[in-house]
Amino acid sequence: MIVAIDGPAGSGKSTIARALAERFGFEKLDTGAMYRSVAFTALDRGVDLDDEAAVDDLARTITIRVVPSAEGPHMTVDGRDVSREIRTPLVDANVSKVSAYPGVREAMLEPQRAVAAEHDVVAEGRDIGTVVFPHADVKVFLTADPRERARRRVLQRHEGEAVDLAALEPEVAETLAAIERRDALDASRDVAPLVAASDAVQIDSTAYTIDEVTDQIAALIEEAKRA
Ligand code: DC
Repeated sequence: MIVAIDGPAGSGKSTIARALAERFGFEKLDTGAMYRSVAFTALDRGVDLDDEAAVDDLARTITIRVVPSAEGPHMTVDGRDVSREIRTPLVDANVSKVSAYPGVREAMLEPQRAVAAEHDVVAEGRDIGTVVFPHADVKVFLTADPRERARRRVLQRHEGEAVDLAALEPEVAETLAAIERRDALDASRDVAPLVAASDAVQIDSTAYTIDEVTDQIAALIEEAKRA
């Protein structure tokens, strides 16, 4: 069984995919983390991000792995754990450029499909239902109001801290601008842009909790299992 969840940054894909994977005993495939790993490694190794051929070459030659661990999966590049490094604002700001290169996307396809060849999978990204798994059993396109997405990202960043949302307003505004910039780049690129598959179920999560959306998608999975 393949469950495809696509949508823009901060729409809740990761959290919901994790909850669904746990509930059904599926593997979770975070394809954004793979593009982030390419972007981070290019920055780290001093590869010019404007040099498309060099970035393509890097994407083809590095080995990106998802290593399971007690506190959740870790991403490694050529054996080095980069789980934390791929979540920085610098990577946020550069990942769309790298993920727009056709050669990079091509290099990521095979490892993404390999996961589903061996396991039931909940895959999340931008082109899962359109390009990676066009025959997925369940396809969801998850959206939410951009301000709500920015608010969620900021709260996620401050998880575990006593936060005053009013004081975080400048950070929310800055995050909103970054999210809108990234959405525009992801949606306007030529190859595998961020668009809903024609047969995807569209869910706007703005007014729902994570649990409510998870339940909605779980119902779709149950239905697909019965089919
Ligand atoms: O989901 P995320 O924010 O971690 O994704 C990081 C970037 O990777 C995002 O800006 C677009 C790109 N991406 C993509 O092009 N295709 C995917 N399937 C997943 C992510």
